[in-house]
Amino acid sequence: MSAEHDPRLAARLARDEAKELLRFVTVGSVDDGKSTLIGRLLHDASGLYEDQLAAVKRASRRAGAELDLSFFTDGLEAERAQGITIDVAYRYFSTDKRKFIIADTPGHLEYTRNMATGASTADAAVILIDAERGATEQSRRHAFIASLLGIPELVVCVNKMDLVGWREERFTRAVDELSAFTRRLRFRELRFIPVCAREGDNVVRRSERLEFYAGPTLLEHLETLPIRASAPGGELRYPVQLVLRDRDGYRGYAGQLASGVVRPGDRVMVLPSRREATVTNIDTMDGALPEARAPMSVALRLDEELDVGRGALIVPGGSAIQAAERFDATLVWMSARPLEPGRSYLLKHTTRTLRADVERVQFATDLTELTELPAETLRANDIGRVTIACRAPVFCDPYVDNRVTGAFILIDPATNDTVAAGMIEALGIVPWREGPGALHGRSADAANAPVAGAAARRDDPRRAGFVLWFTGLSGAGKSTLARLVAGALERRKFHVESLDGDEIRETLSRDLGFSREDRDENVRRIGFVAKLVARSGGVAIAAAISPYRAARDELRRDIPRFCEIYCECPLEALTARDPKGLYQRALAGELPHFTGVSDPYEPPLAPDVHLRTDLERPEASVRKLLARLEALGFIEPEGGAE
Ligand code: ADX
Repeated sequence: MSAEHDPRLAARLARDEAKELLRFVTVGSVDDGKSTLIGRLLHDASGLYEDQLAAVKRASRRAGAELDLSFFTDGLEAERAQGITIDVAYRYFSTDKRKFIIADTPGHLEYTRNMATGASTADAAVILIDAERGATEQSRRHAFIASLLGIPELVVCVNKMDLVGWREERFTRAVDELSAFTRRLRFRELRFIPVCAREGDNVVRRSERLEFYAGPTLLEHLETLPIRASAPGGELRYPVQLVLRDRDGYRGYAGQLASGVVRPGDRVMVLPSRREATVTNIDTMDGALPEARAPMSVALRLDEELDVGRGALIVPGGSAIQAAERFDATLVWMSARPLEPGRSYLLKHTTRTLRADVERVQFATDLTELTELPAETLRANDIGRVTIACRAPVFCDPYVDNRVTGAFILIDPATNDTVAAGMIEALGIVPWREGPGALHGRSADAANAPVAGAAARRDDPRRAGFVLWFTGLSGAGKSTLARLVAGALERRKFHVESLDGDEIRETLSRDLGFSREDRDENVRRIGFVAKLVARSGGVAIAAAISPYRAARDELRRDIPRFCEIYCECPLEALTARDPKGLYQRALAGELPHFTGVSDPYEPPLAPDVHLRTDLERPEASVRKLLARLEALGFIEPEGGAE
């Protein structure tokens, strides 16, 4: 029976609307059995096929009823709006518990682009590996890109278990091979599932042939994975796609909210002109709205005629958003033609396209060891860090803060091919130079800047002190970075006091041990001194393991200008380095409460700065940190306002 005449299907669609939506991306090659897996999932979950969906939509339209299918297209528009012609197939299905959108990316050489775009809103990435072949470099690359893109959950299906005789050790081997690598990436959760997609084992149905595995099937896992908050929070970012006008004088700015919320009556600023106006109306096809949130597509009307065109960005009035002409970015290089440093490319950022030069390659990432390799160029499939200089300021955010305004693609102007997908890591902020002195008043007045005492700083930008708090395991590089940052800030004429864990433990905290109470007390004491230093206008730089989240959060509440810096370094790297020989002793069981080995460490959930000290050079970490302090308004851009 055709879906068009199936009232049950229509009823089911209506029910689906209330269910929560999980978006996931599948990565792997045809050889790994990806298409078979998707087919299995759709078939066995007795899901709704998109052709049926289209049929229902047609049918309901004919009947004059419009089903709300926005859950199907939400967010996909964003990718289209970015003008990226992508080869991602979206599939939809639903179960009693949830509805799902699969972004299926082909496993050919071009997968990175597809993934970088198809994955931008994904809650999870499902990667396939072939049980016979085990994890390959390609599997590691897929996992790494998913982690770079900030996809929180990784699911690894070890497929074709039938071909290895359903043997547990073949599954375990594949898990060991890949997890040594993936554990060092930033996933919230990692799950390995042995499956046989061809016959359906552990996809939807539990398999007796894989009895050794007690965990959930793929579908069960997808039904319970946490879904990320649907609306990207943070400040309003509204890239204008199109100016809508008609003969009656209507003038609206169409676009999609990249983040935040907007309501009529809100004061907004239009970039790059920086002129302000008030939102009068939020229009949609279905009428006016009292409010719009990301990722909705709407049209805004303003109370004043400003110079707004495609590529303009609308932000809250007085926003502290930064204009960057240079930034550090992670690139996934996709073109067969290698990157040519010094060459100019077209950089497409939100709805804007401009010229940009890739100044230099800082390093390429080694995908076996996750280390930085010296590199002059990037070749097809390479992932690396570069410095990009744009020919005009770009209003952007680091990717970790905003996945839309933090992402871009590079296009080869000669061929019009997309050659790379990029994520902005750190901004080299430039003053907004429109007229003389334009920057000064603006940045100091920025109402939304997360800055306390901005008014005091206007008189003397160095008056207001702050606290930098380095947290992380012993040996993760806290003291080294603290020292380097102290030097950099002293050169900028700040008065700096260093409060280093090792030194404090010989003085102020000489009486304390390493129980939870003692560590919290140690952190409280260091925090108290740091607060006094900041209050009298200095910069306190504290470096202590400070393993407990609650104690650190207490400091954040208590200290007005507080910047938490998480120095992350995997245990493998720490034990390999182990300058004090402590890890060796701890692993041998000689130190009963050693953080990271025999005592807990609670990583920050939202640090102001997140450094991977095993992957980044200290100088790069310091640059990133200074850029963040500029963005927070704690320090002025060098050579900027003065
Ligand atoms: S904290 O947990 O209270 O913040 P703090 O940073 O001051 O720790 O001190 C940690 C330093 O003490 C480590 O760098 C290490 O040299 C030493 N140390 C001795 N015993 C331990 C232990 N059980 N756990 C962690 N560090 C220890």
